[in-house]
Amino acid sequence: MHKAIVVFEVEGGSDKGPDGHRKDTMPIVEAIKANGWDSEVIYYHPDNAEEIVERVSQNFDAYISRVNPGNIPGGEKGYFDLLTKLADAGLVGMSTPADMMAYGAKDALVKLNDTPLVPEDTAAYYEVSDFHETFPASLSFGERVLKQNRGSTGEGIWRVRLADADLAASVEPGTALPLDTALKCTEAVDNKTHDYTLGEFMDFCDQYIIGYNGMLVDMRFMPRIVEGEIRILLVGNEPVFIVHKKPAEGGDNFSATLFSGAKYTYDKPEAWPELLEMFENARPVIAEKLGETGHVPLIWTADFMLADDENGEDTYVLGEINCSCVGFTSELDMGIQEKVAAEAISRVEAANA
Ligand SMILES: Nc1ncnc2c1ncn2[C@@H]1O[C@H](COP(=O)(O)OP(=O)(O)OP(=O)(O)O)[C@@H](O)[C@H]1O
Ligand SMILES: [Mg+2]
Repeated sequence: MHKAIVVFEVEGGSDKGPDGHRKDTMPIVEAIKANGWDSEVIYYHPDNAEEIVERVSQNFDAYISRVNPGNIPGGEKGYFDLLTKLADAGLVGMSTPADMMAYGAKDALVKLNDTPLVPEDTAAYYEVSDFHETFPASLSFGERVLKQNRGSTGEGIWRVRLADADLAASVEPGTALPLDTALKCTEAVDNKTHDYTLGEFMDFCDQYIIGYNGMLVDMRFMPRIVEGEIRILLVGNEPVFIVHKKPAEGGDNFSATLFSGAKYTYDKPEAWPELLEMFENARPVIAEKLGETGHVPLIWTADFMLADDENGEDTYVLGEINCSCVGFTSELDMGIQEKVAAEAISRVEAANA
């Protein structure tokens, strides 16, 4: 063992501080070094890929990826190829490309729709034809949320409902709605509502399905989103803090994204005991259904919405998992970087035992 962990970033981008790094990157590097290990940051660029593979595979035991997949020079394929070569050379990947895709893609929800975490009527469309065939009937069951896979901060995440409330109340569930049905469609990026017919809106949404990694997830609208989305941030198996993200009040607002005006409050995990208990039981199921390695990601988040079970008690529905570029920049005083370092080192030690 070299007792050395490399941290990958890309140069530039809005997530970087004055030192050219994500604000939580150097704290992680320093925390690894404080354990007597070596650590440094390398910027990935496709022009240096060969050099990086050579140097890193000879000098490091593991990598930590701190890269936003939407922001990689030359595209994510080149970067994922490099990470795969390092894994083949025996390095511990935090995370591997397969795990990043499985956890980070929106259809993770569909892989969990046979668990209590996700409503069972959650589906994904990978073909335009399948979308046009299935969605008109899906919408007859009630309000839906359509989620594109690419992009973030609520772009291409649509709350979709019938414009005519009487029709919505009277439509026979399971009947395909006609293409001229009037809709109200609200995008999470800005909570703005647009008028479309069903046919027009489906044509508009085809762009989300076409192309690399294209898909559209079709999920039931969870009305208690107005009470907020509850994010658990984890280091490995350990929840380290909770963000309660409350959408801006009023209108059709449903978005918990920051730019749409949602308000964030930060809680200790202990403030949400029922959620944590539920999640503790669900985590192994998530690891089994999503992970290639059986490991949950090093730093990741799971977002929940409140719902009611059949006895009127609170339950939690999973809305999204993030794992590729999760940060904790406003919580650097909570000792999270030390937990990240300890978890990373223990994974390397276990792999080399
Ligand atoms: N099923 C749902 N019911 C009600 N509201 C939802 C539902 N799914 C998503 N939302 C709302 O839409 C917002 C955006 O959706 P989501 O988190 O899935 O995508 P995103 O924010 O664009 O992705 P990322 O968080 O990676 O940037 C959520 O924060 C939540 O407020
Ligand atoms: Mg989100």
